[in-house]
Amino acid sequence: MLFPPNPFKPTAGVMPPVLIGRESVSMDFREGLEDGPGAPDRLMLITGPRGSGKTVMLTELGLIAKTHHWEVIDETASNGLCDRLISRIAPEPGRIAGLTIKPSAMGASLGELSIAPALRPSTLRDAMTSRLKTLGKGKGLLITIDETQDASMEDMTAIATAAQHMLRDNAEVAFVFAGLPSLVSDLLNAKVLTFLRHSSIKQLGDVPLDDVRHALSTSIRGAGVTISDDALTLATESTGGYPYMIQLVGYHVWRHARRREKATPSANGNVILIDDVRAGVEQAQAKLGEGVCAPVVNQLSERAVDYLRAMAQDDGPSSTSVVASRMGESMDYANIYRQRLLDKHIIAAPARGRVDFAIPFLREYLRATEPTVSRS
Ligand SMILES: Nc1ncnc2c1ncn2[C@@H]1O[C@H](COP(=O)(O)OP(=O)(O)OP(=O)(O)O)[C@@H](O)[C@H]1O
Ligand SMILES: [Mg+2]
Repeated sequence: MLFPPNPFKPTAGVMPPVLIGRESVSMDFREGLEDGPGAPDRLMLITGPRGSGKTVMLTELGLIAKTHHWEVIDETASNGLCDRLISRIAPEPGRIAGLTIKPSAMGASLGELSIAPALRPSTLRDAMTSRLKTLGKGKGLLITIDETQDASMEDMTAIATAAQHMLRDNAEVAFVFAGLPSLVSDLLNAKVLTFLRHSSIKQLGDVPLDDVRHALSTSIRGAGVTISDDALTLATESTGGYPYMIQLVGYHVWRHARRREKATPSANGNVILIDDVRAGVEQAQAKLGEGVCAPVVNQLSERAVDYLRAMAQDDGPSSTSVVASRMGESMDYANIYRQRLLDKHIIAAPARGRVDFAIPFLREYLRATEPTVSRS
């Protein structure tokens, strides 16, 4: 019997077979649309570490908006964000006040929109207002911005100012910003953006393991593949509830089982064995290390990595004084690295004098890549 195609999607931004543990965010957003102007969840800020499912969440909220017959404009922060938004929102970009058309470097005839910074907030508002007029009654406009931590202060100021006016005027609009956890402190500390402090903040954390187990079981058993409860438990626990890891584990376990079944088919139909889970989890961990942890560690100085390795000796939060002594340094010296790592959101300070990893599976990655100590 042919093993069914792999349902898991360990690819950034790609919708998983089951969106696990995010019902409350979807529900809040749906209610925000239904409750009408003034509903708090029409201005949302989604934060979470890499691979926690921010992009996928924006897609999901966009789908919800579309089922309510709203129009959705998705953008990702990078140079020219606000101008891009304006040209996509305006029903007739040619008639926007205050615009100039930059001949594009490629010499394309359309050119790209460029608006004087001071005019951006009002131009964006005008664009939204004209667009809303083209929509039927009760229909609205959702704007989602991904990777918001990369937006320039100028663009964010323009967008926040325009959003504030539109929401205050009870227009049928909603805004969802998504970005890394540093976003909250960076943006909200800027005076011009105090308005965004009133947004409904959704922190995408780990997904409860019961939900993971249920979703894995649905995806596997629902496809007619057998898996024992023990194997399912092992697969579930190895994800730590981290969304990207759920897809990686599912994908590699499935692939291992499919290849094994192809070589030596089981007598009673397709099955995922506990050995498939063990091998798949190992492959998933390696992929996670390469894809998420290595890029983080490789950009750090040697001593900063030493700080992390000193922390990785503990199974949970570490004491800052113990970390300093493991590094063989004074507290003052170690604190320099503690602060740098905190600023980069690689570690967190759960309590006074304690530090813990803020990136899922970084501890495991550091342990697995521990350089071999040469003994003299
Ligand atoms: N709720 C979820 N349940 C199951 N899988 C999920 C969930 N959310 C995301 N995923 C999966 O996790 C992976 C990462 O998702 P996504 O790209 O949305 O994360 P992200 O937070 O945007 O990451 P980055 O910060 O790197 O952009 C994808 O493979 C996606 O299918
Ligand atoms: Mg993303």
